[in-house]
Amino acid sequence: MWHRKDLLGLKDLSKEEIMQILDLAGKMKEKIDNKEIREESLKKSTVLTVFYENSTRTKMSFTSAAEYLGAVVNDLSISSSSVNKGESLIDTANNLDQMGSEIIIMRHGMTGAPHLIAKNCKSSIINGGDGVNEHPTQALLDMMTILEHKGSLEGLKVAIIGDIKHSRVARSNAYGLTKMGAEVVLAGPATMITSNMKALGAEVTSDLNSAVADADVIIGLRIQKERQKAGMFPDIREYSQLFGINKKLVALAKEDAIVMHPGPVNRGVEMNSDIVDGKQSVILEQVKNGVAVRMAVIKLLMEGRKNNGFIN
Ligand code: CP
Repeated sequence: MWHRKDLLGLKDLSKEEIMQILDLAGKMKEKIDNKEIREESLKKSTVLTVFYENSTRTKMSFTSAAEYLGAVVNDLSISSSSVNKGESLIDTANNLDQMGSEIIIMRHGMTGAPHLIAKNCKSSIINGGDGVNEHPTQALLDMMTILEHKGSLEGLKVAIIGDIKHSRVARSNAYGLTKMGAEVVLAGPATMITSNMKALGAEVTSDLNSAVADADVIIGLRIQKERQKAGMFPDIREYSQLFGINKKLVALAKEDAIVMHPGPVNRGVEMNSDIVDGKQSVILEQVKNGVAVRMAVIKLLMEGRKNNGFIN
């Protein structure tokens, strides 16, 4: 039984809840490629996507996921919405809440925005990324991909490399992976790391070589230029030389290590093309697992609404 109305982050989820989502995602995955076994269980249900920031993977995979379960998906295009006439976030959400949709999937540049509307709305809210805080479904799909390759998360060394400070992906993965018993090492330039992640049980370092040494998994991160103040690094070429993920760095990890990236990838900046397209890369598998994980999350929240009497 699923009890939560919303999925806002991995900080508050238990190990058992994470496994419940991942187990169901494993069952949902075959429906992506096989139209015949897609569901109509959410026929007559409506899901809304409300993305205040750009997205390719998260928005499209949530849309596909909801459709493969039979739900209708509506999208609020922020650029042509009344947000541009000055309507507040809460007023926008309260109005959307009246339109009969059960789930609102929100991405917002402000940390805590989905939490704020979850308190004010009867619809279930899924956090599709809030500022520098969390991106829970990205970490869930990352964990699913690692599990498929490694069989277990317990005892694995996962090195997360790049712009740690501004990364909601790093934060959600640190919460999730440490809960599941993995060793998480966060590494990047001194200006892009923050020691407060140590509180999550992760190691934080500027030494990429030690971070990657004997790692089972390497996760590269995009430089979040949209969230940075100027002067975090001198120039892109220098960043790529000192902190980019290349063959020499990957060779320090275990021979069977997998290489991941949440996307979008800036090829030649945080990761070289021969690594992105190389034998150890599972980046496109992550994208497919994103649909499976999002099907599982939507299905569990919908079932939770029914079982717990959450109604609009
Ligand atoms: N990984 C991720 O969140 O990608 P998008 O920004 O394209 O959704």
